[in-house]
Amino acid sequence: MSERIFIGVAWPYANGSLHLGQIAGAYLPADIFARYHRTAGHEVLMVSGSDQHGTPITIKAEQEKKTPAEIAAFYQREFLDCWQKMGISFDLFTNTGTKNHAAVTQDIFLKLLEKGYLYRDTASQAYCPSCQRFLPDRYVEGVCPFCKAPGARGDQCDACGQTMNTADLIDPRCRICGAAPVFKDSEHFFLKLSEFQSQLADWVEQKNYWRPNVMNLTRRYLREGLRDRAITRDIDWGVPVPVAGYEKKRIYVWFEAVIGYLSASKQWAAEIAKDEEMWHDFWDKNNGVKSYYFIGKDNIPFHTLIWPAMLLGYGGLALPYDVPANEFLTIEGKKISTSRNWAVWLPDYLARFDPDPLRYQLSINMPESSDTDFSWRELVRRNNDELVATYGNLVNRVLTFVYRNFDGAVPQPGDLSDADKDILNKAGTSLGQTGDFLAKCSFKQAIMTVMELAREANRYLDDRAPWKTIKVDRPAAAASLYVALCLIARLKTMFYPFLPFSSQKVHEYLGFEGRVEDYGWKIQELPPGQKLREPQPLFTKLDESIIDEETARIGT
Ligand code: MF3
Ligand code: ZN
Repeated sequence: MSERIFIGVAWPYANGSLHLGQIAGAYLPADIFARYHRTAGHEVLMVSGSDQHGTPITIKAEQEKKTPAEIAAFYQREFLDCWQKMGISFDLFTNTGTKNHAAVTQDIFLKLLEKGYLYRDTASQAYCPSCQRFLPDRYVEGVCPFCKAPGARGDQCDACGQTMNTADLIDPRCRICGAAPVFKDSEHFFLKLSEFQSQLADWVEQKNYWRPNVMNLTRRYLREGLRDRAITRDIDWGVPVPVAGYEKKRIYVWFEAVIGYLSASKQWAAEIAKDEEMWHDFWDKNNGVKSYYFIGKDNIPFHTLIWPAMLLGYGGLALPYDVPANEFLTIEGKKISTSRNWAVWLPDYLARFDPDPLRYQLSINMPESSDTDFSWRELVRRNNDELVATYGNLVNRVLTFVYRNFDGAVPQPGDLSDADKDILNKAGTSLGQTGDFLAKCSFKQAIMTVMELAREANRYLDDRAPWKTIKVDRPAAAASLYVALCLIARLKTMFYPFLPFSSQKVHEYLGFEGRVEDYGWKIQELPPGQKLREPQPLFTKLDESIIDEETARIGT
């Protein structure tokens, strides 16, 4: 039965390049999941976009003496280029600077206001007398009131991890000019999160399939009690507040960024599906859609509590089905720090290497249930020992041998032995298991199942040694090569969500037309006599020297 799957992926701030932590955390798992479901014949909508508002962008713009819009436009282009090269297959990757996004945000704002879920109140906010402006939380620095570390930001201390109110900072300073800010009262809109406490608690308790990390954190917030939150700010970069008297204020970035999932779906319907109403397919509650949100662990409460509260308040729309947030990826044993350049940047990687080895490494080592580490040594090792030596070697030796010795076509198998049938059955079982793991977002287990089948196929082939038997018993060689080709045909389907570029090549070498996705998540029948295309090596061995070269770039 066809399912409807909505996939929302975290909106990256358009203030810097993408790094591997973000890819392993959200974009790659989302893409694997989307490719699996599309292949299985389900209706999939996968959207995201760049988050153009918020202080990360205005800080960057001030540093570079550009406008926030210029910064956002630059990174929007870079992100799109990365998705294409890395094979992250969004149905739409838009941004929060569109008219459509502002309109959808304001519609939700006004509806929540009308229903009494928003109210006005005064909040005390930092104001810099020398810059003559209100300062967003992150523009104020001072000594942390909890651990006394210097350099704490107005919203959070990186040294001890505590979140706080800007007013609690000791010796606060304006980050732009260094002056001491004063605190002024300012009127803002607040979201009545507290009103949704019991509804959300009941809803969360039904989610017994959520990952433990996601569940634990969400429950902790619920136990501490949901507090109302200010959702407007005294800034001029952001979505305007659709209420008279609020011309100088903007909607808080987090309130509008999550609305991007809905606004992007509407934009997709109008511009890509060419049917303005089609977004309903993926949003109306009670029509069976399952919505998945792929995000890093730092974004959990926004997706398991705040966005659901907004959706409940608005009414009629589907709540998240699952939020399979990942843990963090460390780089060479240390936590990623973009300011200290302790990161591997995706555009750099893609300028020098192929996407599939990285997709493989990040899939088999995905930070699903605990933090995992990326190192160049491991990337090279897995590429050479697993992709090249196991899967690539299987594909190359079988295809080249058949291409040369059987007139470039799939051999006639004759009668298959019990052992032949066994391994083909085993492959069918593996395909089913891999699909089940993927549907449950157990990506690591899924790819390990596929790799295990590739290892078995190699053992089968070594055992049969058709390159020897062909000299004495050609029909026996033909039968085992036929079985090996069938295994490769199954493997290219099973590897497809992880290694889309390589699977497409294998698909073509085997003589199939069109895209892997169009052939379904099922056993690929391989007609004897089908013409093959001349095979090329699937993967390239990486020289050990790149380990030191690439490691040396980190942190400098
Ligand atoms: N731009 C924010 C971040 O990178 C928010 C991402 S998810 C969103 O942390 F849905 F809220 F946009
Ligand atoms: Zn100042």
